[in-house]
Amino acid sequence: MCGIVGYLGSEHDPKDVILAGLEKLEYRGYDSAGMAVFNGNQIERIRAQGKLIYLKNKVQDKKFTGPAGIGHTRWATHGKPSESNAHPHQAGVIHLVHNGIIENDDHIRKQLKAEGVTLTSDTDSELVAHLINRAYAVHKDLFLAVKSVLPSLKGAFSIVVICQDNPQELVAFKDGPPLIIGIGQGETFIVSDVAASLQYTDKYIYLDDREIVKVTPQGVKIFSQAGIELRKEINQISWSADVVEKRGFSHFMLKEIHEQAQSVAQALEPHLNEQRTGITLAHQLDGLHFLNHNNQPEIVFEKALNDIDRVIIVACGTSYYAGLVGQYMIEKFSKTPCSVEVASEFRYRDPVVSKNTLFISISQSGETADTLAAIRLAKSKGVKTLSICNVKNSTIDREADIHLYMNCGPEIGVASTKAFTSTLTVLSVFCIEFSKAKKQLDLKSEQQWVEGLLALPSQIEVVLAYDKYFSDASDALKKYHGFLFMGRGVMYPIALEGALKMKELTYLHAEGYPAGEMKHGPLALIDEDMAVVMLAPRDELYEKTVSNLQEVKARGAKIISLGSGDDENLKSLSDRYLAIPKVSSWVDPILAVIPLQLMAFHLAQSLGYDVDQPRNLAKSVTVE
Ligand code: F6R
Repeated sequence: MCGIVGYLGSEHDPKDVILAGLEKLEYRGYDSAGMAVFNGNQIERIRAQGKLIYLKNKVQDKKFTGPAGIGHTRWATHGKPSESNAHPHQAGVIHLVHNGIIENDDHIRKQLKAEGVTLTSDTDSELVAHLINRAYAVHKDLFLAVKSVLPSLKGAFSIVVICQDNPQELVAFKDGPPLIIGIGQGETFIVSDVAASLQYTDKYIYLDDREIVKVTPQGVKIFSQAGIELRKEINQISWSADVVEKRGFSHFMLKEIHEQAQSVAQALEPHLNEQRTGITLAHQLDGLHFLNHNNQPEIVFEKALNDIDRVIIVACGTSYYAGLVGQYMIEKFSKTPCSVEVASEFRYRDPVVSKNTLFISISQSGETADTLAAIRLAKSKGVKTLSICNVKNSTIDREADIHLYMNCGPEIGVASTKAFTSTLTVLSVFCIEFSKAKKQLDLKSEQQWVEGLLALPSQIEVVLAYDKYFSDASDALKKYHGFLFMGRGVMYPIALEGALKMKELTYLHAEGYPAGEMKHGPLALIDEDMAVVMLAPRDELYEKTVSNLQEVKARGAKIISLGSGDDENLKSLSDRYLAIPKVSSWVDPILAVIPLQLMAFHLAQSLGYDVDQPRNLAKSVTVE
């Protein structure tokens, strides 16, 4: 959602730090941007509707002395995208940036209006600025003013505040969306994602919920909401600043698609045994541990896995589709029931979970509000929780009992690509370990699966050749008014993912379907303007999928099929045929999704859309 950058220091011009940081955070929200920075003893506030470039143009000739400043990129929740709704919001001496939602905003708005306060925006954020300004008039201390207002706010939100009376102070509070403190030499950063300040520091403190921070030239002090000073660990980040650059690619998304040969290998590597023939999930790097009551890893992993009699996977969007692939694998190999659910549904049901259930949450960002609420619900029911995240130390990662990592480096393109294939790799590795613990997977099958996973990087390189193919073919694809993606078995979630990529990037109607469902309704959609993307690799359901393909062909659909190797049969039935290497069916999904990512990318490009920042979307969905 929104991106936040706060800065206090004399090492750099705050304007430059804020703009550079916002550029890295623009993927989080891009409907308006703004900054409020000290210039002498005055705070100057500049805001602009639209992408960051409009703010940049407005401030390009300005110089600020600092030392304090705050900046923001917005993804609208309350109030339409406009300059007046852009952050920072000002009330009297207070300037504030905010990420998240204030749920009791109606009540506060009525109260402030009754007191005669004039509001200049439709946002819930401005209300908080007014409450803090009012409290500041009493306390004459920014920290105390912020602290005194917190009990009257409901919701999940993070704020960073500066006050006209003191250019040497930033105060921040987190309860929900991430806020991270970057510790530099003589300068401090408060950011919603480390990507925003990686070029200045690699040392970070992760705030937990309901913590308040006071930053002054004397240092950073962190308090509980009750006002007790806390000692927090400083973490050193291993990501270097250039991992959030495009490295010669036109778009982050294209770079991330191309990184998949490497990122899949990185996801697998920590879990390979010494001989690289099998999986040893526990005790590896950031491997899988149960923590005992003293927070020490316990070597009881295999036994604990063996006791699990049910797996529930919960996630949103692309991560949810990865979970569906996981379900097929886990049930097939471990013979343990596995269900997969969208987090926004799971959290509002009263799900029945037994003590031997393993709850797996999947989240690239580790900050998705619904997934976080789901894991909290699962924990409250006393089950063990395992997270698969990309961002280490993200909220979901920190809340889970057991941690696995996608290991794919920062994903900046709003549409998820490499995180999906890394998740599938991690789910495969988990499934191998779990099935072994359940005495369901023999050594030979494990070795074959691992061989398949090890061969992936070179096969991904082959599939990436579709970059050129779709770059050429995208003009012809523009004529279709809709896309139906179909597959059976483990290809069904890949069909769903292909359709999601298509709709979020091209804004065309696209749906994913189990191919066997066509007769039950969707066949009515078929005409010659509809493209059917049929996923039919040579797996155990191949014959059935081909007969579904014939049904849609008979009704006049244009067919793009994807199969294994040189499949003459599929070629003859299709208008376009895409080949993926012939491999074991359990790595097929990883290879099959890549041409679909490239198809959506190039079609969106040729339609003239912004691929890295599709309309109405944001990368990290930290509000419901
Ligand atoms: C689609 C996409 C989203 C995310 C979803 C969950 O391309 O990126 O559907 O997958 O918002 O995000 P995470 O994995 O960060 O919880």
